[in-house]
Amino acid sequence: MAHGDIQHNAQTTFHLQQGGTSVIVDASGPGMPVVLYWGSELNGLDATDLVSMAQSTVPPVVSGGLDIPARLTVLPLESNGWQATPGLEGHRAGRDAYPLFELRSATQQGTTLRIQAEDKATGLSLLTELEVTGAGLFRQRHTLTNTGSAAYEVTALRMFFPLPASANEVLDATGRHLKERSPQRRPLTVGAHVRTSRRGRPGLDATLLMLAGTSGFGFRSGLVHGVHVAFSGNYELRAERASTAEKFLVAQEHLAPGEIRLQPASSYSSPWAVASWGEGLDALAARIHTELRARPTHPTTPRPVTLNSWEAVYFDHDLDRLKSIADAAAAVGVERFVLDDGWFLGRRDDKAGLGDWQVDSTVWPDGLTPLINHVKGLGLQFGLWFEPEMVNLDSDLARKHPEWILHPGDRWPVTARDQHVLNLADQGCWNYLFSAINQVLTDNAIDYIKWDHNRDLLEPIGHTGTPVVHETTLATYRLMDALKAAHPGLEIESCASGGGRVDLGVLEHTDRIWTSDCIDPLERLDNQAYTGLLVPYELMGAHIAGPSSHSTSRTHSLDFRAATAMFGHYGIEWDISTLDDAQRALVAEWVSFHKVNRHLFHTGTSVHADLPDPAQDVRGVVAQDGTRAVYVLTQRSASITAPADPVPLPGLLPERRYRVQMGTAEFVLSGQYLATAGLQAPTLRPETAVIITADAVS
Ligand code: DGJ
Repeated sequence: MAHGDIQHNAQTTFHLQQGGTSVIVDASGPGMPVVLYWGSELNGLDATDLVSMAQSTVPPVVSGGLDIPARLTVLPLESNGWQATPGLEGHRAGRDAYPLFELRSATQQGTTLRIQAEDKATGLSLLTELEVTGAGLFRQRHTLTNTGSAAYEVTALRMFFPLPASANEVLDATGRHLKERSPQRRPLTVGAHVRTSRRGRPGLDATLLMLAGTSGFGFRSGLVHGVHVAFSGNYELRAERASTAEKFLVAQEHLAPGEIRLQPASSYSSPWAVASWGEGLDALAARIHTELRARPTHPTTPRPVTLNSWEAVYFDHDLDRLKSIADAAAAVGVERFVLDDGWFLGRRDDKAGLGDWQVDSTVWPDGLTPLINHVKGLGLQFGLWFEPEMVNLDSDLARKHPEWILHPGDRWPVTARDQHVLNLADQGCWNYLFSAINQVLTDNAIDYIKWDHNRDLLEPIGHTGTPVVHETTLATYRLMDALKAAHPGLEIESCASGGGRVDLGVLEHTDRIWTSDCIDPLERLDNQAYTGLLVPYELMGAHIAGPSSHSTSRTHSLDFRAATAMFGHYGIEWDISTLDDAQRALVAEWVSFHKVNRHLFHTGTSVHADLPDPAQDVRGVVAQDGTRAVYVLTQRSASITAPADPVPLPGLLPERRYRVQMGTAEFVLSGQYLATAGLQAPTLRPETAVIITADAVS
């Protein structure tokens, strides 16, 4: 076998090291490189150590096995003897299904390793990028190019992340509308735990991360590794153990049959697979939050407290009522008013109008200007709801351009919420959406778009007859970027029936996510904790709804509702115009507490206590310099003991003393003591919460 033209220099083992993370890669060839190590930063290694690592990890020949044992390379394939999930699946009209890549070069620039490989016989070349980022994330992406003379169909192109042998428990999240991000755990056994989205969006059941760690790993302890696909279309994540002992995480874009047919000389780039690790989930999440916060585009202005009209008025758009809600909002300290669904042509309910992005003059005879002027006159920003990718058959757009609607052959896919999906990859359709939305943004002083996406895609076939989720996802990103470029300062929220489109891909183009349509604070506890593994609080919409939850009918006190939303991008989704002065004053107090502390909430480190009593919950945010923290202690249900357990306050500087305030009680205790022994919890009724503050004393 010829592999004489490998260009990589004498260096064959590479150490990517940054942000507390080391990744060590053996690229000695001739096969694809192997990630020997991914985890805590290893210091003081020299070239001899790296070579020894490469030698010490070679698997032995085993009885009944292959003469040359397979390695878990960055693209493990059957041609190398790999028999678990392969790195690439594809073919050229049924042929060329088993490529054998030869390493051409491995070049390290800073903390990025670029690996070029080629299979001349099959007519494929591959660029694999491995990078350790500033915050210590490990990210990978492949670009596959068809160098052959006929089309090559890619079925799957996967990124692999090796796990330490200590990983033996898998955690991911699932859910549904009104209950996104519910955790589930299982042992990591031989075989794979696979989570796939074929929904054309990550989905309400999306896990965000596939995680694996030591038995019983929690927020504060246990070595855990996790990976995410930074893309808003279809994805697949798996935690797998091969019968040859390797444990690993796998990430990919899920591709539909025929979706990626590479013509000669064309390429497919996978999304970035972004991975983090930590001693406990809080540390794993902190790396992701730190990375996001370092982006030049990360929102740095105080996140405006928002009043969203949806649960306040739904489709009942009445100028006077909305003005009085805006008045009440301004009076309690709200800074942004968002007019939700219902303002555009024919949109009197959710059966019609999507696609016709012109103000409906039957409801808004003078346009939106009277409301916007009123809102702006109160000193608030104004936001407006759109659902650009969607269309109702009962709309002028669908009547005029049925060819822009995704559908197979001569039938429509099954509807959801009476709507279908537009083909944004069609330039005519994209141009229409840009010009219609741009016109609304030009005619009206709009600071913010709530960008919704309220259905899973089914049979997403474009006019070419092939599935187009990959292309439409990229076209959506382009539309967001073009609107932002045309309207500098415009912010966008990613909403999809709540948390159906939460991913690091969309967060490159948007400024916040809507976490769930369920605003019941009890349900929000898990939802926000597990969304928070990926998304820092400043990007996570969290609202105070009315006393009785519209999705669960549970009734909760204002204190519980306001405290549970406290750390997020705060808001109110409730008709507060009907409150009396005393009730408004209480809402204003919570808004004021949020504003005083939001710099801490939106720049600090998010922490969660691991508590033996499932009835209790403690979470908080600790300032980066450790001088202040705010916690919320929640009594989810009744504890089986009275009093309930003492609760630790994690994340403070162990050697510092803190003045801790919980209600009227005040103590001065060390960070170490608070993180271990903690505080005796007061007697709380189920479904109530108290705020605890900790300030370092000099
Ligand atoms: C679903 C969103 O999640 C809600 O907040 C609201 O905007 C509705 N769509 C409007 O149709």
